[in-house]
Amino acid sequence: MTMPPGLRRFVLTAHVTSSVGWLGAVACFLALAVVGLTSQDPQTVRAVYLVMEPAAWYVLVPLAFASLLTGLVQSLGTTWGLFRHYWVVFKLVINLFANLVLLIYMETFRVMAGVAADPNADLGMVRNSSPVLHAALALVLLLVATALALYKPRGMTPHGQRKQHEQWQRARQRAKQPVQRTASQSSR
Ligand code: HEM
Repeated sequence: MTMPPGLRRFVLTAHVTSSVGWLGAVACFLALAVVGLTSQDPQTVRAVYLVMEPAAWYVLVPLAFASLLTGLVQSLGTTWGLFRHYWVVFKLVINLFANLVLLIYMETFRVMAGVAADPNADLGMVRNSSPVLHAALALVLLLVATALALYKPRGMTPHGQRKQHEQWQRARQRAKQPVQRTASQSSR
């Protein structure tokens, strides 16, 4: 079922806002993670790892889910479809992978916050290079997804080609019908 134009634009606004917002939030996490690794101020280092967990729950997780949900609605509610174009399928795979890794990583955020809150843990134990790696990988994936969305490479899946063929056949039959009717009317 295709969405009416007003609704399509509304969902697209929500999709672009959540998806590109997620990318921006990941860029902030990368900056925070670098500060955590390099800052010489112990309080700043601890604060970085303490703030990551709530910031991920309140910002990253909702944006990641909103991006997936609005992307699904946008695909299924338009002629793009979910499995017709490779660029949509790739974006779906990127999104599902990133969402899954994020949910698993929430436990790591919890453990890092626990170590940072422990006054007996020395700064070497509090610092962790893993958020830099994860945020950098997520940033690359989301940049690829954004480029796919904007360039929309042409490749169609076999399912998409079949659907397009069926649409053409239906359109051709519809175009033939009035001609056949006028021909049979004129022969009477
Ligand atoms: C992974 C993170 C994602 C990012 C960064 C992203 C980004 C974007 C952007 C910037 C656009 C606007 C492009 C334009 O209007 O020219 C867009 C459109 C679109 N996205 Fe995504 N997206 C993501 C995930 C998804 C997912 C998971 C799906 C589907 C399952 C999806 C399906 C679509 C579709 C079908 C459009 C075209 C909408 C239209 O023209 O009506 N996206 N995306």
